[in-house]
Amino acid sequence: MSEKSKYPIVILTGAGISKESGLSTFRDADGIWAQVNIEDVATPEAFERDPDQVHRFYNDRRDGILDPAIKPNAAHEALAKLEEKWPNDVLVVTQNIDNLHERAGSRNLIHMHGELLKARCSHCDAVLAWEAPIIVETLCPKCGQDNGMRPHVVWFGEEPFMLDVIGDALSRCGLFISIGTSGNVYPAAGFVATVKQFGHAESLEINMEPSEGHSLFDDALYGPATQTVPKLVEQLLRTVGE
Ligand code: APR
Repeated sequence: MSEKSKYPIVILTGAGISKESGLSTFRDADGIWAQVNIEDVATPEAFERDPDQVHRFYNDRRDGILDPAIKPNAAHEALAKLEEKWPNDVLVVTQNIDNLHERAGSRNLIHMHGELLKARCSHCDAVLAWEAPIIVETLCPKCGQDNGMRPHVVWFGEEPFMLDVIGDALSRCGLFISIGTSGNVYPAAGFVATVKQFGHAESLEINMEPSEGHSLFDDALYGPATQTVPKLVEQLLRTVGE
């Protein structure tokens, strides 16, 4: 086994990895934020002001990922294969709230911005698997109260999940790969700078175009994720004889 086998890998993914599965990105010309305002649907204030509108937005998106035509693509599958074959830890940290990484087989996975197929009760904090539309009148199956169920997603102004675990993985990794994210949203956009501070990991950006933070990466591959990611995974696995 080569020296390469000794390092753990952390992979940050964003909406670009799910684009070729048929899900919209946020900031491309045809992206979600070109159609609705963040302030109207993705903040705690929006939910307080107009919960029906926020619920409609996430109910539609939940229906979108439950569409049988939406499936993991070759990039999701390649990352699952890397986790299976790489002789050290491979952690996928995704900003995506879809379920395509887990459906492709990724197991060491953190949904730092939450999951669309879960709901949370603001009264009793229960987190439950959820596929149905949510409305204000939806009762919490745990505590029985209404006017408390919300999508288990992280809105602007809320703290992403598991930042301590992510920070620890970033401090230990030997390779950091960012895939399909525009680098506009912190703290994820700052992960490459964190990795650089520790000084012992290579960093690689994979995207359609240079991201906001592109100059901080050691290397880059530009093109559709379904082509670039499987190629990279093959290259990495060759270095460990797989
Ligand atoms: N392959 C690779 N990259 C792609 C592809 C593709 N097929 N298609 C688009 N991209 C790239 C775009 O060029 C863009 O840089 O994916 C990136 C997507 O960027 P955003 O739309 O900003 O999505 P993301 O970075 O995931 O957004 C971060 O913002 O609104 C919030 O909470 C939301 O998690 C999201 C966060």
